[in-house]
Amino acid sequence: MGGDKINQEQKKRIDTLAQRHILPEDELIALLDGQDGASSSYLFAKADAVRREHYGTEVYVRGLIEFTNYCKNDCYYCGIRRSNKKASRYRLTEEEILACCQEGYQLGFRTFVLQGGEDPGWSPERIEALVRAIHRQHPDCAITLSVGEHDKATYQRWFDAGAERYLLRHETADEAHYRMLHPPGLSLQHRKQCLWDLKAIGYQVGCGFMVGSPGQTSRELAEDLQFIYELQPEMVGIGPFLPQKDTPFGEKAPGTMEQTLFLLGVIRLMLPEVLLPATTALGTIHPLGREKGIQAGANVCMPNLSPVAVREKYALYDNKICTGDEAASCRNCLDRRMRSIGYHIVTSRGDHKSRQ
Ligand code: 5AD
Ligand code: FES
Repeated sequence: MGGDKINQEQKKRIDTLAQRHILPEDELIALLDGQDGASSSYLFAKADAVRREHYGTEVYVRGLIEFTNYCKNDCYYCGIRRSNKKASRYRLTEEEILACCQEGYQLGFRTFVLQGGEDPGWSPERIEALVRAIHRQHPDCAITLSVGEHDKATYQRWFDAGAERYLLRHETADEAHYRMLHPPGLSLQHRKQCLWDLKAIGYQVGCGFMVGSPGQTSRELAEDLQFIYELQPEMVGIGPFLPQKDTPFGEKAPGTMEQTLFLLGVIRLMLPEVLLPATTALGTIHPLGREKGIQAGANVCMPNLSPVAVREKYALYDNKICTGDEAASCRNCLDRRMRSIGYHIVTSRGDHKSRQ
């Protein structure tokens, strides 16, 4: 693989991307269509160099707390969609969440990511009170929210309560593709508006998408990349689409690790200082997926801090890792994994370069 000679046009695209951080749409499409072993190796080496220039060999960790799998939405790809009657629903209490944070703090986490479905049982007021409580107990930690679409006033009150970062994947930047992935009632326009609102308020914002979702081609991916460039987010979350058997997309083909890694490299060159996780989905599709993600340009890992008893219930897709007994201490597992490839986990908030 590495011995193959790189196609010169492909090399030029990667070099131009590294210099200018964006390419015209047809060139982005050609770059993605030209993905092969040689161009991937070349891209990863460049992306790794850029990441090292800005963040060295440090890997930031975020303690992920999946605090509710109730969701009022019905996205066709997602295992916790409202219509999935087989999902076993749970909702952690404030006390349980604070206990996760306490435990996480002792393990060295300085960022907590509160992720959940759009759960009517967690009102904006309740979430606000939770953010305040975590902020009070851990004033030196960053709080990231990932609880879907809300109005700007709600985002503002959570920000005022102490949440500084927000993750909301745009899922796809193509209107027709968005329609294929979501039921009527959800709109790309609203999703994008939420991201712009979050930015305007002052959050560090993360958008992102699944790689290999049904109906996605290089054209949709090029649109995703263009939207990301336009938004200039501080974080980008991408991982392979993985089917969940009790969803309408249960029989669809999964995305690939190779394409996910390629896109991680591309995103690193587009946004040199971006905080880019090697996601759980990437670790699920291949036993060394997260390590390879770091080597392709990622610099963040988000191990699970949820109580082991509920972990398998947050099943967005099948065969998710870190749900068994072995997962009691993902942090140590990850540190070993990162050291095995010459990187290491650090205990810090891991803010975006522009906020340090
Ligand atoms: N495969 C991979 N990722 C998924 N997500 C939801 N369902 C799946 C799936 N089947 C991702 C979405 C969502 C994030 C929390 O998880 O991109 O934004
Ligand atoms: Fe969770 Fe390895 S990171 S078990």
